[in-house]
Parts: sequence; C-alpha cells; structure tokens
Amino acid sequence: MSEKSSDRSSVAETEAEIRYYGQKLNELRSRALEDPEGFWAEVAENLTWFKRWDKILEWNPPFARWFVGGVLNASYNALDVNLKRGLKNKVAIFWEGEEGITRTITYYQLWREVNKFANVLKKLGVKKGDRVSIYLPMIPELPIAMLACARIGALHSVVFSGFSASALADRINDAEAKVLITADGLYRRGKVIPLKKSADEALGMSKSVEKVVVVKRIGLEDTPMKEGRDYWWDDLMKEAEPYCPPEPVEATDPLFILYTSGTTGKPKGVVHSTGGYLVWVWATLKWAFNPTPDDIWWCTADIGWITGHSYIVYGPLLHGLTQIMYDGAPDYPAPDRWWELVEKYGVTIFYTAPTAIRMHMKFGEKWAKKHDLSSLRILGTVGEPINPEAWRWYHEVIGGGRCPIIDTWWQTETGGFMISPAAIDLVPLKAGSATFPLPGVHAEVVDEDGNPVKPFERGYLVLLAPWPGMLMTLWRDPERYRDVYWSKFQPNESLEFKIKPPAIYYTGDYAMKDEEGYFWLMGRADDVIKVAGHRIGTAELESAFVSHPAVAEAAVIGKPDPIKGESIVAFLILKSGYEPSDELRDELRMHIRKTIGPVATPEAIFFVSSLPKTRSGKIMRRLLKAVVSGSKLGDVTTLEDASSIEEAKRAVEMLRKAMGEKS
Ligand code: WT7
Repeated sequence: MSEKSSDRSSVAETEAEIRYYGQKLNELRSRALEDPEGFWAEVAENLTWFKRWDKILEWNPPFARWFVGGVLNASYNALDVNLKRGLKNKVAIFWEGEEGITRTITYYQLWREVNKFANVLKKLGVKKGDRVSIYLPMIPELPIAMLACARIGALHSVVFSGFSASALADRINDAEAKVLITADGLYRRGKVIPLKKSADEALGMSKSVEKVVVVKRIGLEDTPMKEGRDYWWDDLMKEAEPYCPPEPVEATDPLFILYTSGTTGKPKGVVHSTGGYLVWVWATLKWAFNPTPDDIWWCTADIGWITGHSYIVYGPLLHGLTQIMYDGAPDYPAPDRWWELVEKYGVTIFYTAPTAIRMHMKFGEKWAKKHDLSSLRILGTVGEPINPEAWRWYHEVIGGGRCPIIDTWWQTETGGFMISPAAIDLVPLKAGSATFPLPGVHAEVVDEDGNPVKPFERGYLVLLAPWPGMLMTLWRDPERYRDVYWSKFQPNESLEFKIKPPAIYYTGDYAMKDEEGYFWLMGRADDVIKVAGHRIGTAELESAFVSHPAVAEAAVIGKPDPIKGESIVAFLILKSGYEPSDELRDELRMHIRKTIGPVATPEAIFFVSSLPKTRSGKIMRRLLKAVVSGSKLGDVTTLEDASSIEEAKRAVEMLRKAMGEKS
C-alpha cells in the first residue's frame, strides 16, 4: 500500500482544483491519498468494533477486502450503540401511512422489535450467511426485518414492493432465499394492492423458501395463508424472546444483496460488505450532510433501492438521527402531502430525486407555498442528473433560497455518495453539477482509450481506486463482476492518469468536467434506462417483450421525458399471425407491468416490420433514439458496417411513418 500511495501523492493537482476544493475537505482528500491506513482507521473509529481490524485494505484487483480481520455487527452499531449513548428515548422514526395513520418509534422500541424479530428468524431456521428476501412496503417492519437479519448475520435481499411476482421470483431464486417477509397488501393512491397474492405467485415459481412471514398492513380479510409455511408477523412476535445477542460478523462478511438492472436480461445481485459499507455510509452521510443531533432527516426514497438501504436504514441510524418515513404517494391525497409532512415534523434535511422535484414543479408552487418550510436547512438530490431549471426551483421554492443542494452522484454498486458537495465544507454550487469527488474517491472522465478528456468534453466516468463502500462482487458471479465493471478500461502505462491504478472501475455513466474541475453527470452511457431515477436495463425489457407469444423481436430505448428523465419506448416486430392493434398494445403494456412491475410501464409501443441493425445483428439503438427524439441520425456513413446502413435507413423511415401514424 505504501508504495502506491507515495506514487499518488507525488502528483500535483491543478490550480483550479486547489482553489475550488474546500480547504477542510482537501485535507481529508490528501490524507486519504497519502495515508490511507491512518485515514480510514480514524474514520472507522466512529463505529463500534468487537475486534479491531488487522489490515485496512487487501486489494487484489478487482476484489477489495476492507478492514480485514475486523469484527462488528451492523444492528449493534445502528441500535445498541445509540442506547449506550443516551439516545434510548430519542425518536428514531416518525412514520406516516398514506391513509393518515402514524407511528412513533424510539431507539429503544426499535432495538426491542429488532431483537424480537431476530429471534423469530432464528426460530424459523435462519442462520448466519442465509438469505432472507424482504418484499414490503415502506412500513417500520421493513427496517426492523433488515436489522434483524443483520443482527444474526443473515443477508437481506430487499425487493422493491412495486416489482411484479416474476421479478420477485427471479430474485428469490438467484439468492436462494430461505425465508420471505411480506405484507397482506399496501396502499397506493388510496387503492389497496394485495401484495401477498404477488408473493404467492412468486413462491409458485421458486423452491428455496421454507417459511413466509406476513405483516398485517391492511387487514385484508381474504389473504391466503398456507398452513405450515405462512405465519403472521404479530403471532410470531408475541412468542418471541425479547433479547438476541448480536452475532459477531467479519468486516468482510456480506451484509446484504441488492439486485439492480444491468445490460443483460438477468438482474445483478450486488453484494455489500459489512465493515467497509458501514464505514462508507457513516462517512459519506457525515461529509455530505453534516447532521446535528436535533436534525429531522427525511429521505423520500423507497428502501427497496440502495438509497433507502444506505440513507434511511443504515446511515441515519448509525448517526442516531430522527427521521421521517412515509408509506405513500407524494401527491396523495393532494400534491402538498410532502410539504405538509415537512411542516408537521419540522424536517431540516430533505433528500429526494429530480423526478419528484419536476413533478412538484408541474403541480405548481402554490402547493409548497401553503406550508411553512422554514425548518429546512439542507436539500439533497439523487438518482439522475438534475436539470438547472429543476435545481433552481428546488432551491427557491422549497429551500427558500437558503438551503444548499447536495447533488449526490453514486450507484447501487458504490454503497454511498461518491461525487457530491459536502456540507462540512461547502464549495460554491453550480446548478446541475455534483461538484467534486468525496475524500477517498478518485474519479476521472476518460475517452474510449481511457485517457482523460479535456474540460467540457464528454467522456466516461471511471473510478481509479477502491473505496470502502464498493461492492464486493455480484452474488455467485465473480466473472460477471469483473466483466461488467473492470474490463472496459485496461490499466496501461500509456494512460495519462494522475495515479497509476492497477484496475479501472467503469461506472456506465457519461460525464464531463468544466474548466474549474467540477463534475457534470450526463446520464448512462450503456443500455440502461433511467425512468424516474429507477434503473431498468433495455435487455431486461426486451426479453420481457419477447416472452409474450405475439412478439418476435424487440428493441427498447429511453426517450427524454420532461418529468421522469427518461421514458420507455419499444419497437416490436410481431410474429406472423399477429396483427398490430390497440388491444395488443394494451395487452403488451400489461404484460410488461406483470413481468417487471409498474415502474417499467412503456410510454409508447411501435409495431414495425424491421429494426436497424449492424451486420452482426446488433440493434442500433442510437438510431432508434435519434428517430424518437427527432434529432439527426448522426454520421451513419462512418458506421463500421456499411451494408447495414441502407437497411437501417429503411427501417428508420418506416419507424418515422409508424410514429406519425400512432403515438
Ligand atoms: C445511476 C445509479 C444512487 C442511488 C440511486 C440510483 C444515476 C445517480 C446521480 C446524480 C446524475 C445520477 C447514474 C448512476 N445517478 N445519482 N446525482 N446525478 N446521475 O441508484 O439505480 O444504482 O443508479 O444513477 O446514472 O450510474 P442506481
């Protein structure tokens, strides 16, 4: 380690960077470079370890092991430590349901529930290292179940409750989960959705699950319960022992699996470690938002995504914060639902997604103006690039012009924030820029050959050094892990990097830097669509389309959308015997909702008789995108495969016609 680090420190940073990086943060950055051992040791001291680590980092690219030899427990750090710190009676969670009911849970109560549920899991046969799938709406039982898994050293695999039965089945099967935790139903915009029915459908497609725990969220009379397999949460909790000692877990043992979309049809099981992940989440929350004990934190994400894992469950609890948890739609019963909650609880730090901001922008500022939002002191955003117009609206209308906007760039894979302004040491903000990498993050923007690009040139965002929150691997698929993240750019002596990395992490994102070194994130560079901040792979959508008997071939692209960032547009070739019709279009739309979930509902479906392809048969999505957005096709003549151009042009013409005829 020491050899490499001296290598790094010898490189001068540009003047612009020195000027604009905050001073305090810069010191942290230098320390992370020059003395990673000392730096991370100091950061890690903020957690409670049963046994201190022997080594900060073992880096066998692309596999990193952080805090090797360290022993700790995530639920102990999130709960017990807070009781010992005098926060026993502090509110951990103010919960609100869409229908208006509330629950207030103190750290002590949360600790008690987690202990009891940990004992329930043990009784159901769950052991250290086993996987537990969790398919729940945003109710307190969700973090309770996750922390209970962590308490006994089992891995949780949370599946977003908006996902369909077959998406759930895929994830249960891949993780070989032993237990599933779900609810009878959930509320969305006043409607009841019978979640247990989807869960049962998923269980029909999987073999590993032995026991199912069902939370009574709604009290649905006709919830199907299978004798000997299904148990009501409350019944099990009534019998549970009150205390469960926290299982000592290696820092390098996995804490959880979280599935995310990639460029193939199969979701990727991102595996996060216990020690590195917790240290990263603790540190990034501290740097970016610098919370104080009386802050009221509200991250509006669903826990089914990484944002909720890191900044609803682990981060805020490690910091002993009080937070809001809301189970419902942001605009139900009226568009001021969120602002009503901000006023009611005096929220001070509010963290949401650009999509949501643009939606509220559309509703109009009168809804926010109805409420006293003066408690807010810091705003945050995540999930997709934020356009300057939305940034300014957020800043003025919600933040009253006084709150900095912490635009956090990161991914499921990174575990926590990577590029973000830091409230501990704020740099001048620019609307739409995530500013600079946090300490310990070595980000660069490079061209196709892996060399840094000039200011204002778009390139690929890469990471040049391991960081504590990085994913360990993909669940039972280390080859895919290497392939997806570490193979696009090979380290090579000729690359003009400031540091010489032994391996380069490819983020899949486009980015650029401006003349002052600020980073601007510019969307996905791969075949991944971001719909309302949710990541959906085109390949996943395409394979869902062709699983319908009418569809022979499918090409799916993301179309710029003023609210959702991108929306899904599909081009389909039908099998002979099937005719295009509005009924079929509706049926296919339903089919996608059923196979993936409502988040994947296509905005438009076009029936075509051919698709633009290269000679090797690869669909030229770039052309489809150009057609849909009405932009120039670009330089088709320089495409490698000349013979495909005419065919592509013909297909594009047809598409244009088809689009003219039908939306
Ligand atoms: C992708 C990761 C990280 C939690 C939510 C999404 C995009 C994320 C930003 C941002 C521009 C962003 C990137 C990234 N993204 N944050 N602040 N500015 N783009 O997690 O589903 O793993 O998606 O979201 O494209 O690669 P995810």
